[in-house]
Amino acid sequence: MLVLGVETSCDETAAAVVEDGRRVRANVVASQIATHAPYGGVVPEVASRQHVATIVPVIERAVADAGARFGDLDAIAVTAGPGLVGALLVGVETAKALAFALGKPLVAVNHLAGHLAAVYLEHGDAAPPTYPHLALLVSGGHTALIRIDGPGQTRLLGATRDDASGEAFDKVGKLLGLGYPGGVVIDKLAATGDAHAVALPRALPGRDDLDFSFSGLKTAVATLLARGGLPQGQAMNDFCASFQAAVVDVLVRKSRRALAREGLRSLIVCGGVAANRGLRAALASAAAEDGFALHIPPPKYCTDNAAMIAAAGTQLFQRGARAGLDLSVDPGLPL
Ligand code: KG4
Ligand code: ZN
Repeated sequence: MLVLGVETSCDETAAAVVEDGRRVRANVVASQIATHAPYGGVVPEVASRQHVATIVPVIERAVADAGARFGDLDAIAVTAGPGLVGALLVGVETAKALAFALGKPLVAVNHLAGHLAAVYLEHGDAAPPTYPHLALLVSGGHTALIRIDGPGQTRLLGATRDDASGEAFDKVGKLLGLGYPGGVVIDKLAATGDAHAVALPRALPGRDDLDFSFSGLKTAVATLLARGGLPQGQAMNDFCASFQAAVVDVLVRKSRRALAREGLRSLIVCGGVAANRGLRAALASAAAEDGFALHIPPPKYCTDNAAMIAAAGTQLFQRGARAGLDLSVDPGLPL
C-alpha cells in the first residue's frame, strides 16, 4: 500500500511517499527557516505564501523520488490540524484537489498523531512498540505525556502548563543571541559544554503530578543574562549544556514517574525535541537502568515531516477513515 503524505501545518512544506505505513520511499521537506529567521520566529502569512509557492513541486518531487506515478497511490493523507490556519489550508486544499483529480481516497491526519506514528517508520529489525505504551511528545507547540492503549486510544496524563519544551529551547536560544530556531544550535553547543557550570531550576510541579512548566526556567535564564551579560566562548557552551540538562532532567524524571505510575514498560518519544542528543542519551540511560523499552525515531522523523503523516494516514485508512472534499482545517485540533 502506497500513501502520499502532505504536511504544511507550520514552517515546513513537506510531502512523502510511504509503503505499508513503514517503508519511506520518499521524504521531501522544504524548510522555510531561512525565510523566517530574520523575524526571530515564524510569520504566519509569510508561511502560507511560501507553502503556496512550493507545495506542488514538493509533491511532484516526492512521487518522482519514490519511483512512482500518481496513479500508483492508494490514498492521500494530509495534516488537518493543529497548526497555523493559513498554512494548514494550503496542504488541505492541495490534497483535496489531488484526490478529486486522481479519484483517490483522502484521509485527514492530526499532526500530533503523525508525530506519534513516526516510531513505526524505518524501525528496521527492531520490533515496533507494543501496546500499551507511554508517549512523550516534545515539540515546538506541545509537551505532553500520553498513555496509548491501542490505535487511536489515547489518554492525556500530563502536559505543560505554560511553554512547550521546544518553545523553551527557542526562547532561550533567542535570549542567548543564537538565532531562530534555537533548539538545534543549543544541542550542538551543549555537546562540548559542562552541564554543571550554571545552576538552573528544575520545575517539578506536585509530587504525583505529570505536568510540566518551563517558563520559570526561561525567566531564570533571562535574570542571569541581565546580571552577567552574554556568556562568551566556552562559557556559552557551558550555559547551553546547563540549560539543556535542566530541560532534559525534568522530561526524563516525569517520564519515569509516568511509566511507574501507569505500570507501563515501553516509552516512545516524538516531536522536534526528540532529536535532541542530550535527551536521547539521558533516556537511553534511564531505559537501561529501569528496564523499559525505548523507541525514538531517527532525528529526521522527529522534526516536522510528511512521512509521519503518511504513516498515521495509512493506519487510519486501514481502519476505514475517509475524508470528504468538504474537509476543513482545525488550528486547535486536540489529539
Ligand atoms: O515537531 P517540530 O518540528 O514542530 C512542531 O510541531 O512544533 O518541533 C520543532 C521544535 C522547535 O522548537 C525546535 O527548536 C525543536 O523542536 N528542536 C530541537 C532540536 N531539533 C528541533 N530542540 C532541541 N534539540 C534539537 N536537536
Ligand atoms: Zn510538529
